[in-house]
Amino acid sequence: MTNWNAVRDAVYKNPAVTYLNAGSISITPKVVYEQACQLREVMHGNPVDYVWRTSGEPLWKARCRLAQFIGTSPERLILAQNVSQAINFITTSLKLPAGSEVLTTDHEYLAMRWSWERATERQNVPLRTVQLPIYPQSPDELTQAIVRAFTPQTKLLFISHILYTTGMILPLKAICAAASKQGIITVIDGAHGPGMIPLELDDLGADFYATNLHKWFMSPNGAGFLYVKPGREELIAPWQVSWGYKYDKSKAHELAEYGSTYWQRSFEFEGTRDITPWLTIGTGADFLDGIGKDVIRQRHHELSSLVREKFNGLEGLELVTPNHPELRGGLTAFRMPKGVDGHKARQHLWDKYRIEINMVPHPDGPYFRLSTHVYNMPEEIERLASLVPEAFAVAKL
Ligand SMILES: Cc1ncc(COP(=O)(O)O)c(C=O)c1O
Repeated sequence: MTNWNAVRDAVYKNPAVTYLNAGSISITPKVVYEQACQLREVMHGNPVDYVWRTSGEPLWKARCRLAQFIGTSPERLILAQNVSQAINFITTSLKLPAGSEVLTTDHEYLAMRWSWERATERQNVPLRTVQLPIYPQSPDELTQAIVRAFTPQTKLLFISHILYTTGMILPLKAICAAASKQGIITVIDGAHGPGMIPLELDDLGADFYATNLHKWFMSPNGAGFLYVKPGREELIAPWQVSWGYKYDKSKAHELAEYGSTYWQRSFEFEGTRDITPWLTIGTGADFLDGIGKDVIRQRHHELSSLVREKFNGLEGLELVTPNHPELRGGLTAFRMPKGVDGHKARQHLWDKYRIEINMVPHPDGPYFRLSTHVYNMPEEIERLASLVPEAFAVAKL
C-alpha cells in the first residue's frame, strides 16, 4: 500500500497552494529540486568546468536512465528544452512530397498546430483536420475515426498521445500501425505521456515522439526530448547552427565527449546554456519508479473518478473526458456552462483561495480542466468542488 501522504511530503509543495495543474507545469519532487539547486551552485561557482568539462558523463547517464524509463535506447533521444522545441525540429526541416497532405485533429495544442500551419504553408501542401469523437465507447472507435480520414495524399499524421483539451488517451499503437501500413509518417505530441502512463517507445511504432518532462514527469522546467525511430534520422535537421553542426558524418551515431552522439549534439547544442534540468532526469525517473508506474496509473484513476463524481453536473459543468478506463488518466475536463466567464472564475479561485486549475481553449469550450497527480489528495478535490458555486457566481456574464 502506498503512503500517499509520504508521497505528497516528498514533493516540493507550497502548503498555501492547492495545485491541480500538473498538466501545465508540475511541482517538482524535493530530491529533484535539491539536485538541481546543488548542480546550479556548482555551475555558478565554476561555469566553464561545469558546462564544458564535467557534464558529459552525467548527461549520458541521465539519458540512459530516461531511455530505460520509456522503453528505448539512449541513442534514440534528442534532448530538448520542451515539446515545442522538439516539434519545431520536425516542422522546420521535414520535407513533404509535392501533392501530399498533413492530417491532424481538432484537439491539438494550438501553438503546435500553428507550427504545422507554417510548415504546410511554406511547402504549399494542405493541413487537413479530422474531428475526433468526444465520447468514444472504445479505443477502436477512435482508431477507426482517424483511419477513415486517411487519403492517398496523407503522408504525415500529427496527433497528440493524450489530448490537452479533454485528457483522452489515444490508442496510439493501433493508430501508428495503421498509418505505417499506408506509408504515413507519424509525429506524436506526447506532452502528457511520460509520468502519466507507462511508455514503451520502441514498441509504440511512432516515427517521432516529442514531449516535455516538466508536466507529469515532474522535472524542473527546461527538459523534454524527441524520440526518433531508427531510419528516420535523416528526415530532420537542427533548426539552429552552432558548434554541433559540423562533424564527421561517418561517426554520427558514435558517443561524443559531451554526453551525446555527434548527431544528437547537432540538435542539442544551441550555444551556451544551462542543461541542469536534463541532468536531473535520472533522479526524476527514480522517484517515479519508486512509486511504480502501474501504481501511479491506478492512483490517477482513483482521483479522476472522484473528480468526475464531484464535478459532473455541478453548476452546469459537463464532463468531456471519456469513461473507458484505457481512454482516461490524470486529466479530467468539463465543458463550462454558458453564461459564465471561465477565465474570471479561474482567476477568482486563484486570487481568493490559491487554487490552481486550468481553463483550456477550444471552439466547443472553454474546458474547466483538472490535473490530479500523485501529490494531490481527495480533500483538495472536495474543497474545490465546494468553492465552484461561488467562483461561477462571481464570473456570471
Ligand atoms: C499537448 C501539448 N502540446 C504542447 C504543449 C507545449 O508545451 P511546452 O510549452 O512545454 O513546449 C503543451 C503544454 O501544455 C501541451 O499540453
